[in-house]
Amino acid sequence: MASLNALGRHVALVGFMGSGKTSLGKQLAERLGRPFLDLDAAIEERSGTTIAALFAERGEQEFRRIEEHAVRVALAAPEPSVVALGGGAVTSAATRAALAAQFVLLVDVDVDLAWRRARGSPRPLAQDEQLFRRLYEDRQPLYREVADAVANDPEAAVLAAAGVHSERGGLDRLGELVPGDGPIALVADANVMGIYGPRAQEALGARLQTTHELPAGEQAKQTAVVARLWSELRLDREGTVVAFGGGCTTDVAGFAAATYLRGVRWAAVPTTLVGQVDAAIGGKTGIDIPDGKNLVGAFHWPALVLLDEALLETLPERERRQGAAELVKTQLLAGRPLDVRGAAAYKAAVCLRDPHDHGPRRFLNLGHTFAHALEAAADFDLPHGEAVALGLLAALRLSGRETDAVERALDPRPVEVDPERAWRALLRDKKRTGDAINLVLLGDGGPRVEERSADEVRRELERLIA
Ligand SMILES: NC(=O)c1ccc[n+]([C@@H]2O[C@H](COP(=O)([O-])OP(=O)(O)OC[C@H]3O[C@@H](n4cnc5c(N)ncnc54)[C@H](O)[C@@H]3O)[C@@H](O)[C@H]2O)c1
Ligand SMILES: [Zn+2]
Repeated sequence: MASLNALGRHVALVGFMGSGKTSLGKQLAERLGRPFLDLDAAIEERSGTTIAALFAERGEQEFRRIEEHAVRVALAAPEPSVVALGGGAVTSAATRAALAAQFVLLVDVDVDLAWRRARGSPRPLAQDEQLFRRLYEDRQPLYREVADAVANDPEAAVLAAAGVHSERGGLDRLGELVPGDGPIALVADANVMGIYGPRAQEALGARLQTTHELPAGEQAKQTAVVARLWSELRLDREGTVVAFGGGCTTDVAGFAAATYLRGVRWAAVPTTLVGQVDAAIGGKTGIDIPDGKNLVGAFHWPALVLLDEALLETLPERERRQGAAELVKTQLLAGRPLDVRGAAAYKAAVCLRDPHDHGPRRFLNLGHTFAHALEAAADFDLPHGEAVALGLLAALRLSGRETDAVERALDPRPVEVDPERAWRALLRDKKRTGDAINLVLLGDGGPRVEERSADEVRRELERLIA
């Protein structure tokens, strides 16, 4: 089976001359925090001469042999990287075989644009237009054969590398989009099943094996619900669980998939804004136990996340506001405006850098230290989005930033909770080093973890309380 994502694999960019592999590769590597290698440049550096001179002096066949070797060396590097291959590298059967274990992105370009970009360059195979066009036709099937996905801009490349597919109305193609051809168990909450169940079932067609309805909301994230799924599922190891709903559904169904038969594939079709920009992205799954929320779970990256923004049209306004808070949080982290797809791509890139939450993923908690404290003090009778909106105010103030963007977008209002309870909850959540508390704040170059004194943090917490 083709590679589903770039987790633990090199991303290899293939495509014709003039497709822009090098510039896209650099941008993708930057977003994924990976080294970037341009193979043509590496060959020139190692041989101390230009590709054009190698071609002229040694001939194409010898050049291909050198190139094949360079690809093999690059793909043998243990640290996952982004590698841009020369346009003709895929003509080698050995190279095509080596690419099967990596995540291969085709950078597509039409032949006219490719010619406009390549003509007049010293590229040996771009000297004659007719030859150029013929070569383009000849190579298309080879690119298609090795490619796991097609992408022409960094956002599309990040989404593809994470296994995220964005398509308005994509729900109706769910049966084709879920990787493989094995059986599918459809898991949806009661509301989503009521609105979209028949459409999803029809889209899954003959692959649909069983359908499972869950209680709506946080009620679904219980041990008893997972246990019910474990006993109802009939999938074999080729099967896929499709989680169809908000973050509660994707958390619990993803966890059932992570544990059933010691792990079967799963696909997420998030139907809430929270789900599309946050919960369905990044492979964290889990349930609640009486001791706390999300205390049991597993990292289990979905084989597919289908972002179908048309599904948000039926989302109640109250639920949309929950997602708006995470969207604004992501915009603050990225330092620029983002739409749903852009926010999903931002989270996907952070999670690909840090799939098991040992590093940069902690930045996604911007504002959440305060949010969690307020939620606990309110006995969880405070919607998460409202708590996050308030938490963002505190994080911005402690970062020495203006708060008007958050006020305008989210209109956060101080909540009535016991300040002492909120403070104790915050301290439980945070390890203190002496008098200082570590928080995710915004610096000039983006998010970073900084220390603030307990007094300062407490003062900001109390400003959020009515
Ligand atoms: N795994 C992660 O990385 C992660 C990240 C963030 C949040 N979460 C979890 O996500 C959960 C919250 O998710 P949520 O906010 O999506 O809530 P949710 O799943 O409870 O959905 C909210 C409500 O909206 C309804 N609904 C969903 N889609 C709809 C649609 N298209 N039309 C009409 N109604 C619809 C649902 O039935 C439900 O009543 C929390 O449990 C949280 O812990 C997980
Ligand atoms: Zn959150």
